[in-house]
Order: sequence, then structure tokens, then C-alpha cells
Amino acid sequence: MERLNRFLARSGVASRRRADELIASGSVRVNGEVPPPSGVLVDPDQDTVTVDGRAVKPRTKHRYLMLNKPVGVITTAKDEADRATVLDAVGEEGLSGHRLFPVGRLDADTSGLLVLTDDGELAFRLTHPRYKVAKEYVAIVAGSPSAGDLDSLRKGVDLDDGKTAPAEVEVAGFDPALGSGHTELRVVIREGRHRQVRRMLHAVGHKVQSLRRTGFGPLKLGRLKTGDWRVLGEAEVEALHRAVRIEPP
Ligand code: URA
Repeated sequence: MERLNRFLARSGVASRRRADELIASGSVRVNGEVPPPSGVLVDPDQDTVTVDGRAVKPRTKHRYLMLNKPVGVITTAKDEADRATVLDAVGEEGLSGHRLFPVGRLDADTSGLLVLTDDGELAFRLTHPRYKVAKEYVAIVAGSPSAGDLDSLRKGVDLDDGKTAPAEVEVAGFDPALGSGHTELRVVIREGRHRQVRRMLHAVGHKVQSLRRTGFGPLKLGRLKTGDWRVLGEAEVEALHRAVRIEPP
């Protein structure tokens, strides 16, 4: 027997959290009945599970992509205002018949590394605060943060939703193309609050001018060009599983 939300996640319907929402919305039926909102167990071999009338079958082979998300592209599966989404960015060839969804979020004005998959269990863990998956960003900020500013960021800064956990922060190097008046920082956080890096840097007096994610857990963006995507290699998929303590496939 298996929890219904886990079964739905493993089947590639949605992340576990989103599966709970689907169950609560009444879209999911088990043997034709609407189950109670939480805690229902199903037998994957015996029970018939449907979502909006369509039968759900556990998928065995998942798909894992890395996208270098451009600025202006929205991290959602479907945008109500019909703006370009990360699914549009990978197109039919990227989807290859799978129901992919983004793992976590990048703001519209942030570019960089975003994983797309139909592996709900992996996605659930990669975005769950318990697993403290490292997210690496390169931020260009206005001005020149002092040693004290960097130290505050490392120790944690007070935001309106609480103090941030310790972060890695360093000046990423001098880029002559940037000219004076800007600084490039490398920031690694293990939380995933809304617009967290922008808010952290703003809290120490430095407005973010551009933000790019360059690392996610064991993955690095590398030379993947903005707007391009690629299928993750076997070693990368294994490393992602190990990072959140799942036996690799
Ligand atoms: N922090 C931000 O401010 N924005 C992102 O997109 C990700 C992290």
C-alpha cells in the first residue's frame, strides 16, 4: 500500500504538494470514489486511480532536463496571461511526450539553471527545505558591498518572513565589462523563499541588477547557452537522487 499523493507523484502527475491540492480539489478518484483529503492509501496493483477521469499509471522511466531559462520566461506549466513558459522554452522535442514540470522556481527576471522532470518524488524532495539543496547564484549588484555587508549575508539577514539561514557569499571577481559602480557576487543558499537572493541583497543596501542561477545541488549550468536545454546525463540524474537520499534509478 502507498499514500495516494506519493503514488500520484511517482506517476508523474504532479509534485507531492500539488498532488495534495488535486486530491483536495476533488479531481482525483480511487475506484470511482472521491477520497478524503489526506492520508489515503492505495494499492497500485489493485486500485484504479483517475485524475479528471483519466487513469493514472506509474511511470517507470522518467525524463530529466536542464534549461538555461532566459529572463522574461515564466516558471509555470501554464500561464494565465499566455506569456512564454519554461515548457514553451523546451518545446515538443524537450517534452518528448512526458508531462514535465519545473523543479522549484526562478523569477521571471532571473535567468539560469532550472531542472524540468516528470519525477514527482525527486522534485518534491529537491524543493523540500529538509534536504537543504544548495542553489548557487551569480548576482550583479549596484555599488560595492563592504566586508560587513558580506559578513551579514553569511550570518543571516532579517527579512519580513524571518532571518535567513547562513549563506556562502563572495565577490565573484572583477569583470571589466561591468565598469565601476557594480559588483559581481556568488551567493549560495539552501532555502528557497520567494525572491530570496534579491531580498537578502536589498536588505544590506545593494539592489540586484541581474541574477542568474549557476548551480542546483550537484548540477552546474556550465556552458549551456541562455534559452538552450539538454537532457541530464546518467551521472547527473544519479547525483540528484543521492543529494536527496533516494536510491538512484
Ligand atoms: N532568489 C531570487 O531573488 N530570485 C530567484 O529567482 C531565485 C532566488
